[in-house]
Amino acid sequence: MATTLQAVRGMNDILPLQSPAWQHVEDTVRSVLGAYGFQEIRMPIVEKTELFKRSIGEVTDIVEKEMYTFDDRNGDSLTLRPEGTAGCVRACIQHGLTYNQVQRLWYTGPMFRHERPQKGRYRQFHQIGVEVFGLDGPDIDAELLMLTARLWKQLGLSQVSLQLNSLGTRSDRVRFRGALVDYLQQHRDQLDDDSKRRLQSNPLRILDSKNSQTQALLKAAPKLSEYIDAESKAHFEQLLSLLDAAGITYSVNPNLVRGLDYYGRTVFEWVTDQLGAQGTVCAGGRYDVLIEQLGGRATAAVGFAMGLERLIALLESEQVNLPDNAPHVYIVAVGEQAQHRGLLLSEQLRDSVPALRIVTHCGGGSFKSQFKKADRSGAHFALVLGDEELEQGRVGLKSLRQQKDQEMVEFAALPNRLIEIINN
Ligand code: HAM
Repeated sequence: MATTLQAVRGMNDILPLQSPAWQHVEDTVRSVLGAYGFQEIRMPIVEKTELFKRSIGEVTDIVEKEMYTFDDRNGDSLTLRPEGTAGCVRACIQHGLTYNQVQRLWYTGPMFRHERPQKGRYRQFHQIGVEVFGLDGPDIDAELLMLTARLWKQLGLSQVSLQLNSLGTRSDRVRFRGALVDYLQQHRDQLDDDSKRRLQSNPLRILDSKNSQTQALLKAAPKLSEYIDAESKAHFEQLLSLLDAAGITYSVNPNLVRGLDYYGRTVFEWVTDQLGAQGTVCAGGRYDVLIEQLGGRATAAVGFAMGLERLIALLESEQVNLPDNAPHVYIVAVGEQAQHRGLLLSEQLRDSVPALRIVTHCGGGSFKSQFKKADRSGAHFALVLGDEELEQGRVGLKSLRQQKDQEMVEFAALPNRLIEIINN
């Protein structure tokens, strides 16, 4: 017997039973984004490797060790996108979308990172990302956070909290980095291995080390907030007061630095304690220098992305009810004539009752076996058609979920009866 093949480690199938949760999240996000005037953009999944090196940063975990990079048949180095911001910026520069205009954009799709798979962390995962170009004030940062807060509410999620920080400008961070490295060098022997390595490559990332000894050491370290310029400080303070006015609760986390190099000023994460170690469901911030860095005209930018696998796991953990998308009706038809009629009847019903979800039994079989399948389909009602019903010009309507007698309905009265069922 041939061996069966498995999906690649860390890459998951989304099975039919899981789809309603995915669709619920996607539909809700789409409708909330529509309410704020965002437009969808779709980018390729593969980009030139150089794009990610120049945007995410050469010495980040993503670029150093997590990218799916390969040479295509022309010998060009290409990479499966590890995130969406770089491609979105590339597309907007290429098509002139950031030129003298504001863009409020969103995208969704799979992203790829060769991380160690665990609960909530996969090698193929899905994001919905949002990017705004051309606005530099704290009002748009606040709007994005209001949008996400509204989204959690609409999804029925309550176990998320907002952490914020300001990273200041690049030169603020260079000065801070020097002071931080000086301090940590003096206590190098107390650092965990990962932090020792980062001391050379990306010292700011040491701030979000999970190691408790490192965290203790950081208590007396120089603080980023002390190195931030007055303008960035004012920007951040205005953002906080807008959030206060909107009734959005948050905590300022001075150690929040993010793992991608393009950020400056506002950064934020929505986190939950319901999902174990991978508790960040949505993250982002400002990246006002990236567009220029990638060859566009200097344009302010801010955005975020949420991890759909994590949001869906949170929906499950908070036991949020999903909208019912089971078929309203399953047509059970026994006998050649009845089966034929059933197939046509369901078409007519779809014409006259557009909201109807109706499954027609195909493949024949006895009443008993068809009822079993009707039940398994999750349908609320069975429409029963046999020779007798055909002769009488009526169908049987039987609830599959409640103990009730079968009701007989004239063909002509069927659409109205089904509309009642749908609206019930
Ligand atoms: P990120 O923090 O790398 O930011 O990812 C955003 C979110 O994607 C995370 O908070 C998490 O929910 C989800 N995520 C990331 N990696 C994985 C993984 N391996 N498995 C499952 N979920 C994951 C960005 O990607 C930025 N592009 C966000 C952004 C947009 N900033 C500005 N605009």
